[in-house]
Amino acid sequence: MNRANGTSAKIVGVGVDIPEKVLTNFDLEQMVDTSDEWITERTGIKERRIVADDEATSDIALRAAQRALDEAGVKPEELDLVICGTVTPDYMFPATACIVQHKLGAKRAGAFDLQAGCSSFVYGLAVATQFLATGAMSRVLIIGADCLSRITDYTKRETCVLFGDAAGAAVMVPCAREEGGVLAFELGSDGADPSILWVPAGGSRTPASEETVRERRHFIEMQGREVFKFAVRVMSDSTERVLKAAGVEPEQLSCVIPHQANDRITDAARRRFGLPDDKVVSNVARFGNTSSASVPLALYDALTEGKIHPGDYIVMVAFGAGLTWASMVMKWV
Ligand code: ACO
Repeated sequence: MNRANGTSAKIVGVGVDIPEKVLTNFDLEQMVDTSDEWITERTGIKERRIVADDEATSDIALRAAQRALDEAGVKPEELDLVICGTVTPDYMFPATACIVQHKLGAKRAGAFDLQAGCSSFVYGLAVATQFLATGAMSRVLIIGADCLSRITDYTKRETCVLFGDAAGAAVMVPCAREEGGVLAFELGSDGADPSILWVPAGGSRTPASEETVRERRHFIEMQGREVFKFAVRVMSDSTERVLKAAGVEPEQLSCVIPHQANDRITDAARRRFGLPDDKVVSNVARFGNTSSASVPLALYDALTEGKIHPGDYIVMVAFGAGLTWASMVMKWV
């Protein structure tokens, strides 16, 4: 938001794309030494979606983007900017956002990828808000899309039960701050130890080689307990700070939209604010952790289930690789 000119930004359309193929906990029982009981109890996840063999992140991102634009009543050629949050781009470069920009026909738009782990979509909303609130731009498309199945090691039970594929997108336009829209946000980072959550090889530090492939170093690796502790802490602390900055009390919230990683993480944050179950969106059972897509997917569910109305206060909050976190308070318009 721009306090100087009283302008902020609001979301006017949300769209998602959910791959058809379902991978259940029972399927995973056939692949690694795990059980539906363990996965359900420790994470809340029952199934996740897997992208088609011949598709990549830009394909699901494109469909989510087209649906968000339809919903918003905005034409591709009216877009000023396309931001794609992803940790699984089609290529190391060019950016996935450029591929989507072209296929959409967003001829006037600039495009770039934004990589803040699972916080990427909320980071993207905050970035878009700056261009819109300053008057530099009028319509921005923000996408969160990931094909985590492409970087998941299906021989490792510690990680393979957690992740899935999906895409979500939102269109933002300027609005008067007194009307609502983005009231406050916080972006955070602690890059002290990349190995807490990473894909170790394939970048400029450890380029791909026969050895890195043999050692299976091109897949997600994480220190699960460290991520868990970090997530519980930042989800609560960041939400508290951003609510304070917005001047909104927890009991005024209609809906909290957390990154969907693990129901136990979400529950810990919910209890801290004394919020009832039905005010905190959870769809991790159906999709697992879809990284950049997780927040827009949860936002879409909340909207279609009628949990968000004009005038409602909502919070979106996420954490992810980096480590990063991001939170945002909006008054829905
Ligand atoms: N099935 C059965 N047993 C398992 C599985 C599995 N899939 N995975 C681990 N175990 C075992 C472990 O080997 C361990 O056995 P041991 O006690 O004999 O050593 C036991 O279960 C307990 O393991 P923990 O790691 O302590 O289990 P925990 O309760 O911490 O749950 C989990 C693990 C679910 C990974 C949790 O730590 C978590 O959710 N962490 C956060 C992960 C996360 O959110 N990652 C975000 C990634 S975001 C992104 O940017 C892509």
